[in-house]
Amino acid sequence: MTGGGGAVRTKRTRDDLAYFGGTPGFAEDIRVGTPNVPAKDRYLELVSEAIDRRWLSNLGPLVRRFEELTARRTLRRHNTAMNNATTALQVAMKACGVTGEVIMPSFTFVATAHAMSWIGLTPVFCDIDPVTGTLDPRSVAKAVNSRTGAVLGVHLWGNLCDLAGLDDVARGAGVPLVLDAAQAFGCRPLRPGPTGTAEVFSFHATKVLNCFEGGLVATDSAEVHARVRSLHNFGFDEAMEVAGPGTNAKMNESSAAMGIASIERLDETLKAYRAIHLRYEEGLRDVPGVTLMAGPEGQTHNHQYVVVQVDPAVAGLHRDRLCDILGAENIHAKRYFAPGCHRMPPYRADTVHTPVDLSATGTLTERVLALPTGLAVSPGDVDRICDVIAAAVRYG
Ligand SMILES: Cc1ncc(COP(=O)(O)O)c(C=O)c1O
Repeated sequence: MTGGGGAVRTKRTRDDLAYFGGTPGFAEDIRVGTPNVPAKDRYLELVSEAIDRRWLSNLGPLVRRFEELTARRTLRRHNTAMNNATTALQVAMKACGVTGEVIMPSFTFVATAHAMSWIGLTPVFCDIDPVTGTLDPRSVAKAVNSRTGAVLGVHLWGNLCDLAGLDDVARGAGVPLVLDAAQAFGCRPLRPGPTGTAEVFSFHATKVLNCFEGGLVATDSAEVHARVRSLHNFGFDEAMEVAGPGTNAKMNESSAAMGIASIERLDETLKAYRAIHLRYEEGLRDVPGVTLMAGPEGQTHNHQYVVVQVDPAVAGLHRDRLCDILGAENIHAKRYFAPGCHRMPPYRADTVHTPVDLSATGTLTERVLALPTGLAVSPGDVDRICDVIAAAVRYG
């Protein structure tokens, strides 16, 4: 967690920065995505019970319990826990009967696109809102055509998509709106409104709530739910007859034990994330050209990511150089997300993936940097990271 540098904040000089030959500020690495383990003893207790029961997989009592507990957070009628969000996205799409093209942002983790192409769907990338980083309904409207099978919004960094806008376009096209909420557990709209046909969450180790690996499909539709349950369990129906093709996307009991132990502490965890976010806000307020990206109004937020936008014309340095300077101090920030999916080898060669202008995507992929946060990051860590960023802008 904390390394060298002491508890007292000092204004660093250029010679203090490791990048220019000084000593790294953190003796130990501090990085984006260090897993939270808020309740190790509780996890061990639950997993020990599962071992004694000899019920380790196949929709055991811990998975059922975890599904009940998540329902209080997703506010959806039906939740199905799964092995990860990538396969959960595939199961959700199959359950919604999607074929053809899926309109999504390029500015997302590549799993969003890969999950689609792996099951024979064609990702079509549209542009984003420059402030929230989420799919722009106006851009989506330009890409809709007779091959469109679904709109797939991504609640990026926990920022909820423009649900009303996307719902309008999806309804107009007669296709379902599905949400990749991998980064958005704990993020809910404050007012009623459209929420999409299905929503997919991730409980990967780096997420605010983790199950080592895990995912979840949430829906209010009983029909979609019934198909999801069957599809994620080899196509078995409730009578355990094979009703059709299916996959194995089941969550296991050990993952559910971690999920239960962590969700029981989720309020404290979210409080810690919020406090860290506020501390970064304060620490970076006067750093020119480095702007902490704010979430949209009208929702609860998990603050799972602390993302800054670096404007090189004002900060005097590019995001990549700032990332290198931080790296030399053993602070491992991440370019979330660069490049956009449309510039990655599987998708960049074929124009079918990029029918519209992606200029807001282009700007953000060049500018954003995610900074360390989570239960492994202390307030003192945040202060020192902010000091390094301030010094980097001063001297970089
Ligand atoms: C936006 C987004 N979609 C999908 C995924 C895939 O989630 P998983 O690792 O649970 O398969 C991630 C994981 O980081 C993600 O951030």
